[in-house]
Amino acid sequence: MNAAAAAYIVAALLFVLSLAGLSKHETAKSGNAFGIAGMAIALAATIGLAAQSIEAAAVGLIVVAMAAGAAIGLWRARRVEMTGMPELIALLHSFVGLAAVLVGWNGYLSVEAQAGTQTEVPADLLGIHSAEVVIGVFIGAVTLTGSIVAFLKLSARIPSNPLMLPGRNWLNLGALVAFVALTVAFVVSPGLGLLVAVTVLALALGWHLVASIGGGDMPVVVSMLNSYSGWAAAASGFLLDNDLLIITGALVGSSGAYLSWIMCRAMNRSFLSVIAGGFGNEGSTATGTEDGVHTEITAEEVAELLRDAKSVVITPGYGMAVAHAQGPVAELTRKLAESGAEVRFGIHPVAGRLPGHMNVLLAEAKVPYDIVLEMDEINDDLAATSVVLVIGANDTVNPAALEDPGSPIAGMPVLQVWEAGHVVVFKRSMSTGYAGVQNPLFFRENTRMLFGDARERVEDILKAL
Ligand code: TAP
Repeated sequence: MNAAAAAYIVAALLFVLSLAGLSKHETAKSGNAFGIAGMAIALAATIGLAAQSIEAAAVGLIVVAMAAGAAIGLWRARRVEMTGMPELIALLHSFVGLAAVLVGWNGYLSVEAQAGTQTEVPADLLGIHSAEVVIGVFIGAVTLTGSIVAFLKLSARIPSNPLMLPGRNWLNLGALVAFVALTVAFVVSPGLGLLVAVTVLALALGWHLVASIGGGDMPVVVSMLNSYSGWAAAASGFLLDNDLLIITGALVGSSGAYLSWIMCRAMNRSFLSVIAGGFGNEGSTATGTEDGVHTEITAEEVAELLRDAKSVVITPGYGMAVAHAQGPVAELTRKLAESGAEVRFGIHPVAGRLPGHMNVLLAEAKVPYDIVLEMDEINDDLAATSVVLVIGANDTVNPAALEDPGSPIAGMPVLQVWEAGHVVVFKRSMSTGYAGVQNPLFFRENTRMLFGDARERVEDILKAL
């Protein structure tokens, strides 16, 4: 027991070091290594501890289940595309939610359901145990269905626009009040019917909360569900009497909540309204449908523009990831810099489909960190920039966010690329971005559209240069 407790402390410290490491590019690799080491120690200690109190055959079953899980996890992680990461993460969160529901139900079946017989929970602590059961099941079930809806939306299996049930805020509020009442009733008299009611209520609430959030706010949802999955794990830690699970759950829960808050600030959204399931979306009209005349440009003409440009800013988005264009984009950056132009990148906080998505791709293509600037650092310089290349970005450069108060993305800060001398937009068609909103940038006088796959078009420009 003492060896296990010591191992848990070491693992907890490694998890803290891991989070600290992951907060900067330069130390992210060592952060990952700390996390892997911490998890290996935690698993070994947990199995060692279990082996003391259960039969060898049961330990064997645990090891077989872990080996199967590890094999599936490795297979999925190796195959997943960078662009498919958010949906994989959403799916993984749903497993944490499911595990918390099962742990809660197991707690009920092995303690409350055995009323009258001797269980490992003393009678005077039974109320606390019952509260842990309901709270664990509730958080777990909200996380489970919320993550499944997020997975379906992110993988475009269901539309990403918000579900607008009449009186939806009252539905959410009513569900919370009902949860509190059911918890009190369950603590007073733990019965099967009450636990079934809490489970069904929480499954419905999780589904509704995430279904009510519109496409543009999905980044916040992913980090919010990350936070919920942490709290679900912490709740399981209380039930299983496992300190490390409580610590790990709290680390994930609080860091996820902090990340959600940062993302809300970046998108100028109220944290409370997003976690309350899209509260405050009422003011927005469906989709802006401004149409106009766009002007096309060829790769050779873009090369010509770039040859004369003194300063170039590249604002990449999701399309750069889809096209795997980061390599040729890095090559273009080097070529332009060699010919004397000042080249920088402007990164929107929610460009792509993951926090830091563009930074990871550019680092992979060996673009130096010091020319990769955040939106706030570059926005003031855009008016004095000769050419902006918008490579596969759409929502993050949409002027409607600032100019059209009725737009679903109204108020979201964006890269003000239209202020530059010339803007070239790389995309395959006139279709909308993730939020499903038309982009008036495409019809501006100084904007030119370069249609086609971003990688092929950048390679064409390189050839022409
Ligand atoms: P989006 O608005 O999603 O637009 C991407 C554009 O890339 C599309 O208009 C698409 O147009 C183009 N594209 C796709 N494949 C391409 C290819 N092979 N070659 C060239 N272009 C291609 O991108 P964004 O500006 O990066 O904005 C991100 C959006 O995702 C935001 O709405 C954000 O809220 C949301 N979101 C972000 C996250 C995080 S955490 N970053 C998570 C979930 C959702 P065509 O189809 O015409 O080519």
